[in-house]
Amino acid sequence: MSKIDYIQSMQLYFASNNDHKRIEMSRLLGGHTLLLPKDKGIAFDPDETGSTYIENAVIKAEALYSIVHAPVISDDSGLSVKALGGAPGVHTARYGDDTADHELSSRDRYMLLLKNMEGVKDRSAVFTTALCLILDENRRYIIQESCEGAIALEPSGTSGFGYDPVFWIKEAGVISAELPEGEKDRYSHRGKAARLMAMLLEKEEKR
Ligand code: IMP
Repeated sequence: MSKIDYIQSMQLYFASNNDHKRIEMSRLLGGHTLLLPKDKGIAFDPDETGSTYIENAVIKAEALYSIVHAPVISDDSGLSVKALGGAPGVHTARYGDDTADHELSSRDRYMLLLKNMEGVKDRSAVFTTALCLILDENRRYIIQESCEGAIALEPSGTSGFGYDPVFWIKEAGVISAELPEGEKDRYSHRGKAARLMAMLLEKEEKR
């Protein structure tokens, strides 16, 4: 078996229930096959009680590792807005839930963000991703990367997901949802973190 075959055949679990995230992470890691807990009939819904992205990524990875005892990768991401004191941060996925009596769409959430930013001049914000890889009891790696930018004055673009229509990427000089999917990977917090993780997995293959 070649080294490439070995690493591609290594069972790597992804601590998520989301097929879309699995496909994206697999692509970002260079085509690595990722198993979801549900593929093995495992119910997986740990409480994300951390106050940082790293804490939440570690919670998810440890929870899954304690069940499967095989290599596990997890991720946690969010948007921190300077003028809002770093909010929504680790609560990004649930932003606005405390004031709503119905399920909020992504659009509802980014429109609420724009409303809460009305009149704000310093609109700087940062997307962050933490990845945690547990290979065995004694070997784990954590990577955190970010994508700096600003909250736009109004939504624009149709690609991406979540807050992409209102996030202006400093390095690219455009709103995230205006970039084609593959191009966003070049600048995104997740793209940067996953490229580093891919290097780590490649190094693992050479051990
Ligand atoms: P998660 O931890 O990766 O699920 O990210 C938490 C939330 O942050 C998601 O529900 C999205 O709303 C938002 N988010 C994370 N990454 C991005 C991105 O690249 N673009 C837009 N929104 C994102």
